[in-house]
Amino acid sequence: MDPARGHTRLSSSKKTILRSVLALGLVLGCISAVKREDFKTCAQSGFCTRNRAYADYAKETSNWASPFQLNPPSLRLQAGVLKGELINTQEEQPSSRPALSFELQLIDNDAVRVRINEQDPIHPRYDGVQDTVIVKPYGLANESTYQFKQEGGVTLIQYGAQNQNTIKITSAPFKIEFLVNGVSTIVLNEEGLLRFERLRKNQQESAEEDGDGKLVDQDAEEGGGGGEIKIEKSELEKKMEENFWEERVIRHVYGIPEHASSLSLKATRGPGAPYSEPYRLYNLDVFEYELDNPMALYGSIPFMLGHSKNISAAVFWMNAAETWIDVEKNIESKSSGILSWIKTKPVLTPLTKTHWMSEAGVLDLFVFLGPTQRDIFRQFSSLVGTTALPQAFSIAYHQCRWNYNTQQDVSQVDAGFDEHDIPYDVIWLDIEHTNGKRYFTWDDAKFPNPTDMQQALEAKGRKMVTIIDPHIKMDNDYHVSKEGSDLDLYIKNKDGESSFNGWCWPGNSQWIDFYNPKARDWWASQFSYDRYKGSTKALFTWNDMNEPSVFNGPEITIPKDVIHYGGVEHRNVHNLYGTMFHSATAQGLIQRNETNQRPFVLSRAFFAGTQRYGAIWTGDNLATWEHLEAAAPMLLSIAISGISFAGADVGGFFGNPDAELLTRWYQAGAFYPFFRAHAHLDSKRREPWLFGEPYTTQIREAIRTRYAYLPFWYTLFHEASVDGMPIMRPMFTEFPEDEQVFGMDDQYMIGNALLVKPVTKAGITQSKIYFAGNEKWFDIMDYDKVEQGPGFKEVASPANKIPVYQRAGTIVPKRERPRRSSKAMEHDPFTLVIALDSQGQANGRIYLDDGETFNYEKGEYLLREFRYSNGVLSSHDPNEVSSSQDQDWPTDFMRRFGELRIERFVILGNKSPLSQVIPHQVAGLFCAFTPVKQVLECSQGPSGGHICTVKEPQVVLGEEFVIEFK
Ligand code: NOJ
Repeated sequence: MDPARGHTRLSSSKKTILRSVLALGLVLGCISAVKREDFKTCAQSGFCTRNRAYADYAKETSNWASPFQLNPPSLRLQAGVLKGELINTQEEQPSSRPALSFELQLIDNDAVRVRINEQDPIHPRYDGVQDTVIVKPYGLANESTYQFKQEGGVTLIQYGAQNQNTIKITSAPFKIEFLVNGVSTIVLNEEGLLRFERLRKNQQESAEEDGDGKLVDQDAEEGGGGGEIKIEKSELEKKMEENFWEERVIRHVYGIPEHASSLSLKATRGPGAPYSEPYRLYNLDVFEYELDNPMALYGSIPFMLGHSKNISAAVFWMNAAETWIDVEKNIESKSSGILSWIKTKPVLTPLTKTHWMSEAGVLDLFVFLGPTQRDIFRQFSSLVGTTALPQAFSIAYHQCRWNYNTQQDVSQVDAGFDEHDIPYDVIWLDIEHTNGKRYFTWDDAKFPNPTDMQQALEAKGRKMVTIIDPHIKMDNDYHVSKEGSDLDLYIKNKDGESSFNGWCWPGNSQWIDFYNPKARDWWASQFSYDRYKGSTKALFTWNDMNEPSVFNGPEITIPKDVIHYGGVEHRNVHNLYGTMFHSATAQGLIQRNETNQRPFVLSRAFFAGTQRYGAIWTGDNLATWEHLEAAAPMLLSIAISGISFAGADVGGFFGNPDAELLTRWYQAGAFYPFFRAHAHLDSKRREPWLFGEPYTTQIREAIRTRYAYLPFWYTLFHEASVDGMPIMRPMFTEFPEDEQVFGMDDQYMIGNALLVKPVTKAGITQSKIYFAGNEKWFDIMDYDKVEQGPGFKEVASPANKIPVYQRAGTIVPKRERPRRSSKAMEHDPFTLVIALDSQGQANGRIYLDDGETFNYEKGEYLLREFRYSNGVLSSHDPNEVSSSQDQDWPTDFMRRFGELRIERFVILGNKSPLSQVIPHQVAGLFCAFTPVKQVLECSQGPSGGHICTVKEPQVVLGEEFVIEFK
C-alpha cells in the first residue's frame, strides 16, 4: 500500500476475499457505499494534479499568456486542410527542437478537426484511436466554399454553405475561436492552458509494483515505451506533465458520460463549484456507485455539447486514454473581437470553461458547429457512426436476473408471464448458467437441453440472452482457453511476451486482446453454432465486465502497462477496450447465420461509436428511489453523446425494491430505449407478478404500454440509425429556445412526441411537470386530460401511471392489441394517434421492416409520413423509394407488411366534432372504402377539444392515401 496515494493493489487471494465479503454484506441487507479508496482522485493522478496546478498557475499569474505560438509563415491552407507549426516558447532551446505539427481540417458538414502532434518524435505518440472510432473517410470542404485571410498574427477562415462559420486563429499566443453567424461559440486555448509534453529517451525509474503487489503508481509510467521513455520537463513544467487543452462553450454544457450526475454538467472548479473533483473518463467497474458524483464509471464518451438560447456547439475529444475534465462557470461579458469582414456580436454570458486533460495520445479534437442540435447529432454521428438498427424484439421487454438457475426455472418464469398476461420478449442467463464461468459452455446439470429450451421460447416468439465476458478462465481443458493460448491471443504483460493474468469471476483468467485482428476474427468464430454448442438463432449475447474488470488489478481494472497487439500500451486505448470486444461479439452474431440476421449484444463498457454494435446499460445501480431518479439524467447524457440504445436495470440491481418502487421503476423503464429488469444474485425474486395486486396489474399495464408504442419506438430507432438523432431527448433538444428547460433532467422526451416524467419518490400521487412550448399536451392514458403549454402544472400521477403526454402537432403510430411477445404482434394492425396543434395540424412517421435482417439495406422497408392539415390526413413516402404505388410489391416482405391495415385513427384536439370521412383518389390508386359514418365517434373533452375515433378506415400501410375529415 502506498499510503500517500491511498489506493492499494491487493494480492489476488486477498481481493477475492474482499469481493465475497461484500457479497455477504448484501445477503445481510447492509448495502455499503462505493469503496472510494479503490479509485483515484485527481490528487492521486499525477497528470491531473499537474495540469490543475498549471491552470492555477496561469490564473494567478498576471498577464499570463500561452507559451504556444503558431509560426504564421508555416501556415498553408490547401484542399480544406490548414497545416502549420506550433512552437512552445518555454521549451529549452525552442529553436533547435522540432516544432509541433498543427493541422486544422475543414470537414464538409460544418465540423472542424484540430490535430496537434510531435514532429519527428523519438517515440511516436499513439495515434490509432481514429482507426477504430471514425466510421469512414469524411469529405473536406471544397476550396470554393471557404475563404482564407491572414491579417497580422490572425488567420481567418470563413466557410459553410451560407458562409456562416468563421474560424479565427491567433498565432501568438495560440488560440482558435469558432464563430457561427458572427456569434462566438467555442474558443480553444483561450486561457492559454494548452500543454503538450514531448518524450525523449532516458532511463526511466521504474515505478511499478513491488514484489508484494503493492505500489501501483501508474502515472509514473506515463509516456510508455517499454521503460525507456521519460517525460521531459521544462522549468515551468517541473511539477506538471502531459497534454491537455482548454476550451469554452457558452452557457450549459452536457455530455461526457458516464457519470452518476446531472445532465447539465456541474462546475468542478472556481468559487462555489459543487464538485471538487474533475469529471473523469476511465472505464471502471465501480461497486455500488455513488450518485451526484463525477467519478468515472463503466463507459466514456469524450463528447460535450454546449447550448445557449441562440446556439448549440459541441466538441469531441478523440482520445481513449484516461481523461479528466474540469468545468468552470463564470459570469463574463466581452466582445468577440474585431473582425472587419464579418458581423460580430458580443459573446453571450455566462461562460462555461472546460479543461481537458488526457494521459496519453495525440491531441485530436473535433468541433461541431451545428448550428442546430439536429445538425450536431448528424455531424457527430457521421463521424463515429449512428445507432445500428436493432432487431425488433430487442426494443421490447427483457427479463433478467443473476441468475435464472435451471432450465425448469426458465420455463416457470416464462409460463408466469403467460399466466399473468404480461408480454415479454427475452429471458436472460447470467454467469451461473455456465460450467464454472467458462463462457460458451453450459452447466449440464442445470441446463441439460439448452437447444430445446431456446426452441420452446422461440415457439412463443421469444428469445434468450446468455452472458459472455472477456476474461477467459485459465484452464487447458477449456477449449476457448486453450485455443486462445495456442493462437497467442491474450493481452501481454509489459514484457510484451508473457500473457497477463488476473482475477475475475472464474478465478485466474486471461483477457483476449481485441486489438489483434486475428483475435477478433477468432472470437467472432466462437459464436458459430457448431462451436458454441447449445446455441441457436434465438440466442443472443450480453458482454459484461469489459472495462475490463480485473478484481486484483489497480482500480479493479487491468494495469495500464500491459501490452496489446502491435506493441500498443494499454494506457493509450483503455477506454476503447470494451468497445472492441463488443464489436467482435456483434460480428460473431452476424456471421453465425447465413441469413443476414442483425445481432443483439448488450455491453457494459462503452466509448464513442459503441452505438454501431448494440445496446448498453448503466451497470450496477441500487434498488433505491435515488437510483431510479438518477437513471434519467444518466441515460440522457449517454443519449446525446451518441448512444441511444441504453437503459438502467429496472428495479435496481443491488438490494430489494419494495412493490411501489418496483412498479414505479417499470413505469419509468417502459420509456427507456433499452427496457430490462435485472437483479443481483442475493436479491429476492421479483418477477412482475410476485408482489400481488394491485402491483401485478400496474406492472402489466406499464409493460403493455411499452408494447403498444413499439411501432413508434422502432420508427425512432430508424431515425437514430439514419441521422444520429437521440431517441430519449433532453427537453432542451426539443425546446432549444426555452431557458426554463436547459437544466431539466427529471422529465424528458421520447422522440419529438412523448413527454415523460418518471415518479421517483415514494407515496407520490401528484407530479409537477413542465409543459413546454405554446401548444397542448394530451395525456396518453386519458386523452381528454389536456394541458396547455408553456408552464409548470401539478398533474395526477396515481399508482397506476406516471405522467406521459403526447405533444400537439404529432402523429404517433401504435399497436393496441395485447400479445405475449412483440413477434406475436407483427401482423397486427396499427392505430395512429393524431394530436392536432392550434393550427389543426400534425405530422408523424412510421418505419417498418422485417425487424430481423439487414434486408432493409436493400430497400425492403416501408417509411410513411403522415400529415394532417386543414382536415385532410395524407400518407406518403418521404423518400419516394420505399412505396409501391402499383401494388406490385417487390418482395414477400413488402406484400405482407405493405398490406397491414391501419385499424384506427384517434384524432385529438379538434375544435369541432367530425361527422364525415371522405377518401380521395391518389396517384391512380383508389382507396377502396366508402364513407361509413358509424365508424366515426367523437366525444368532447373537458378542455373544449374533441376526441374522434375512426375505426376501420380501410387503409393499408403500403399505400399512399388521402382522407378528408369534416
Ligand atoms: C456485473 C454486472 O454489472 C451485473 O449485471 C451482472 O449480473 C454481474 N456482473 C454478474 O455477471
